Amino acid sequence: MNVIKEISATETYHLRHTVMWPNHPMDFIKLPEDHNGVHFGLFNAEELICIVSLFIDGDTAQFRKLATKVSEQGKGFGTEILHHLIAYCEDLKLKKLWCNARVNKLEFYKKFGFLKTNSNYTKGEIEFVILEKLI
Ligand SMILES: CC(C)(COP(=O)(O)OP(=O)(O)OC[C@H]1O[C@@H](n2cnc3c(N)ncnc32)[C@H](O)[C@@H]1OP(=O)(O)O)[C@@H](O)C(=O)NCCC(=O)NCCS
Repeated sequence: MNVIKEISATETYHLRHTVMWPNHPMDFIKLPEDHNGVHFGLFNAEELICIVSLFIDGDTAQFRKLATKVSEQGKGFGTEILHHLIAYCEDLKLKKLWCNARVNKLEFYKKFGFLKTNSNYTKGEIEFVILEKLI
């Protein structure tokens, strides 16, 4: 059974690093804003499998650093944690949720109602696009 609960920023660092930026030093994946974030972890058989961090600013929130353990990708864990995150934002009566998405993940996010904005940028040779969803 999967359990999604709030975790500390520090608990996200291992998956952030190994899944997203394994070739960079650990400090690369730490965010100065981490202490202001709400961090969620999905546990399967008590193992941390998927993480995401939410940063709320007024009635808008950004999610960052969504990552699923590499061997567990494509099994629905990312979908489950994103649904949890959206429901969390609905409960808080937020108006908008947005993210910087890797361009190759666009189709994945569209399924949740995220729409592409006109802003694109590149970081570390990876192309990103800003997506948003009205809650
Ligand atoms: C993006 C990411 C978080 C998605 O997490 P995930 O746990 O693999 O997500 P899911 O398993 O819910 O969905 C992934 C795909 O598997 C499919 N899928 C989900 N459950 C499935 C199942 N039981 N059987 C087959 N396919 C399934 C989904 O439809 C989805 O397909 P799509 O990519 O074509 O849209 C994960 O790929 C990841 O960590 N990537 C590296 C880091 C990254 O890119 N993060 C996002 C930055 S924007």
